[in-house]
Order: sequence, then C-alpha cells, then structure tokens
Amino acid sequence: MDAVEQHDAFFNSFNLVRGPCLGSGAVGEVVLASAKHNSSLKVAVKIVTFETEGCKGNFLSEVGFLRDLRHPRILKMIAFAMDDHHGFMLSTYFKNGTLRDTMSSDHPVEELRILRHILDVASALQYIHGLHIFHQDVKPRNILLDDQDRAVLADFGIARQASDSSTMVMKWRTTPGYSGPETRKRRPMSPFKMNTLWKGPVVSGSGVG
Ligand SMILES: Nc1ncnc2c1ncn2[C@@H]1O[C@H](COP(=O)(O)OP(=O)(O)O)[C@@H](O)[C@H]1O
Ligand SMILES: [Mg+2]
Repeated sequence: MDAVEQHDAFFNSFNLVRGPCLGSGAVGEVVLASAKHNSSLKVAVKIVTFETEGCKGNFLSEVGFLRDLRHPRILKMIAFAMDDHHGFMLSTYFKNGTLRDTMSSDHPVEELRILRHILDVASALQYIHGLHIFHQDVKPRNILLDDQDRAVLADFGIARQASDSSTMVMKWRTTPGYSGPETRKRRPMSPFKMNTLWKGPVVSGSGVG
C-alpha cells in the first residue's frame, strides 16, 4: 500500500473526507477533514510520516500528552491512529488559524489583544509546568486562535516531561531563533523559569490589616 492509500484507509476508517492542507511542518502536514455524513462537521488531522524512529517517538509523545492534558487553552485531541509508516491525530479545527497568520496580516495587532493572547498562553504553560511538562516550541505558528479570539497552545511534538520542576537542562530543543540567551551561551537552565526564578512579590512591612 502506498502513502496515499494508507491515508485513504485512515480517512475511510474515521468516515472522513480529506480536505485541503492547513499547514505543514518538518515531519508532516495538517489537513482539514469533514465528516462523510455531514460536511459541516470539521476536524483537523495531523499526519506525521515516520521517516525516523525519532519522528515516531515524537508523535507518540505528543498524543500521550494531549490525551491526558485538560485545559481550555490547550488543543484538544479527539483521537489518534497509526500504522507502520504514519501517525494520524484528530483535533478540533480552528478556522481562524494561528497567531502567526494574524501577525502576517496588514493590520497591526492591538495591544490589549496581544496581552490577552500572552495571558492565555501563560495560563496553558502554568498548567503544564505544574505537571513538569515543558513545551520547548512556543511560537506564533503553534498558537491557534479560537472563535472568541482566545489563544490555544498546540504542537506538543517536542514537549518533554521532567522528573521535577527544579530540573536543569543543558540541551534545549526549539525552533532556531526562539531559544533563550542561556541556551545560546550553553549554560544550564530550567525549562520552568517562572517556578525557579520568580519567587513571587517581595512583601515588606508589617502586612495588611
Ligand atoms: N487544529 C488545527 N486547526 C487549524 N490549523 C491547524 C490545526 N493544527 C495545526 N494547524 C496548522 O498546521 C500547522 C502545523 O501544525 P503543528 O501541529 O504545529 O505541526 P508541526 O509539528 O508540523 O509544526 C500549524 O502551524 C497551523 O498552521
Ligand atoms: Mg508546529
């Protein structure tokens, strides 16, 4: 069976009709799909080609995280399937695309809107950091926008889980251009910066009341 037939087998088994490509990355693509019996029911399907064992490992790790995570600002996985050569992941379809698409439009993005997106992503990160999971690839292309223009964190392909939040890491995988200064200086760093560096506001004086 070639790749197209394998894809067809997947779409048929989920009673889906394959639609256009929504975006692509290093190891595959994300396509729109609609239900055979009701074309207004739409989902996004991430198709990962297992070119290496690493690609397969990342796919398994992504579906493993998304299966367990429950947060309004994190992408919801609906189902997944795989064969020897491909992984397929169904998720909610975001017709407004990503923050990157918004930033590429002609109009400047208003300050309050940016602040709300930052707070949304921060809340998603606070939740996963509490579970010692670090995303490693937070960037506009991995942030979807829902119907209320709220940000939703996606793409857990290179996310990892640490034994605890005080863990320091030397190797930091991310998209070039998005790494922190510590990484470029090859210093050990914590993926949970807020937990280790920000100890909350310093309260002085005799307190309230
Ligand atoms: N649920 C979705 N709804 C709409 N578009 C999506 C959805 N998921 C991903 N995309 C699009 O596909 C692109 C690639 O998806 P992503 O999960 O980031 O895969 P990759 O690991 O290849 O970067 C995103 O940048 C976005 O443009
Ligand atoms: Mg991505």
